[in-house]
Amino acid sequence: MIKIITIVGARPQFIKAAAVSRAIINRGIIKEVIVHTGQHFDKNMSSVFFEEMQIPKPDYHLEINSLSHGAMTGRMLEAIEQVIIKEEPDYVLVYGDTNSTLAGALAASKLHVKVVHVEAGLRSFNMEMPEEINRILTDRISNVLFCPTELAIENLEKEGFRNFDCNIFNCGDVMEDAARYYAEVAEKKSPILTKLGLGLNSYILCTIHRAENTDNQKKLTDIVKSINCLQSKMQVVLPLHPRTRKKIDEFGLSIQATIIDPVGYLDMINLIKKSKLVMTDSGGLQKEAFIFDKFCVTIREQTEWKELVNHGYNTLTGSDSNEIMDAVNHFSSKNFIKEHDFYGGGNASSRIIEALLKLK
Ligand code: UD1
Ligand code: UDP
Repeated sequence: MIKIITIVGARPQFIKAAAVSRAIINRGIIKEVIVHTGQHFDKNMSSVFFEEMQIPKPDYHLEINSLSHGAMTGRMLEAIEQVIIKEEPDYVLVYGDTNSTLAGALAASKLHVKVVHVEAGLRSFNMEMPEEINRILTDRISNVLFCPTELAIENLEKEGFRNFDCNIFNCGDVMEDAARYYAEVAEKKSPILTKLGLGLNSYILCTIHRAENTDNQKKLTDIVKSINCLQSKMQVVLPLHPRTRKKIDEFGLSIQATIIDPVGYLDMINLIKKSKLVMTDSGGLQKEAFIFDKFCVTIREQTEWKELVNHGYNTLTGSDSNEIMDAVNHFSSKNFIKEHDFYGGGNASSRIIEALLKLK
């Protein structure tokens, strides 16, 4: 039996782990030890996902959060190292590009434990993003790199990864696995549309949380301006990330939209499926919009999911309110016709498990 330590800590990692942990349990011959760093900690940023997605309860909870990048990553590094020494795993598995990802990868590689990176090879080519630093460093010290797209493979090849001692796979995106599996559950269990009185195609679903948008007063003010303008024509539903809520209060901004607390994944899927379109700076949400046949206006200058932009399903606007309004107007009058399948069809998790078993 092989033993894997999985590191999670931030919201999108719970969603990815839900898909992979389910595949691990179904396969039966891998022992998984889950470490929750504590990076996200509010009920609706953390425990709601474990409960409604039936993710196994973490074996370790490190409770490290709300610190500067260095302090957070450093304290996680130290604490994860202790867990790895005690558990002696064959692999440490990390997801995505957060501080929890980098801390997990670094702790493992220094102890000569093999690092598995799920969502490897993504690049925004913007080194000011903390996530870009986390991804590049994590990829470089990973032994097994599971890429979600062809483009991610190309990125690694351009950086010379074929010369490094590592295994690279295009397995598809585990977020598609989660979206497909939980969409069926959400149909039966999520009351959000009735609760908010939302009809089909009657609202724009918006999320904003990225540091580059929220920490910059001018950018956040522009984004809020565009939300307020849109709201005068069509309802905007905004599940508000705690980072954004803090910044809106700090800058004294006023938003005219349906502001709700962050929601669980089942509610989120139903909100996407019934929306007119999605407006976001989230990585995960850009793909979920596509999976559920919605156009996406991405309030960023770059995206790691470029295939969506290249084929007209998504457009990048940055934070300029005119650009955002134009993009929303453009997509509002178009029919969504899906002509591509970029993310592997919903079987990424089992490809990951089978590849790991073969490598052992
Ligand atoms: C982190 C990730 C980002 C990811 C996002 C997903 C890094 C560098 N960033 O950003 O890549 O897209 O998660 O949502 O790892 N907070 C709460 N309650 C919570 C969680 C956070 O109040 O449950 C507050 C924290 O106290 C902090 C702020 O939100 O003040 C930001 O949290 P942090 O984890 O540092 O970064 P995110 O913006 O969430
Ligand atoms: N999400 C959620 N509830 C919310 C907002 C987002 O369940 O209130 C889900 C979303 O559907 C996607 C994931 O969280 O699956 C994306 O996480 P986030 O936007 O926080 O991070 P990113 O993907 O940008 O790293």
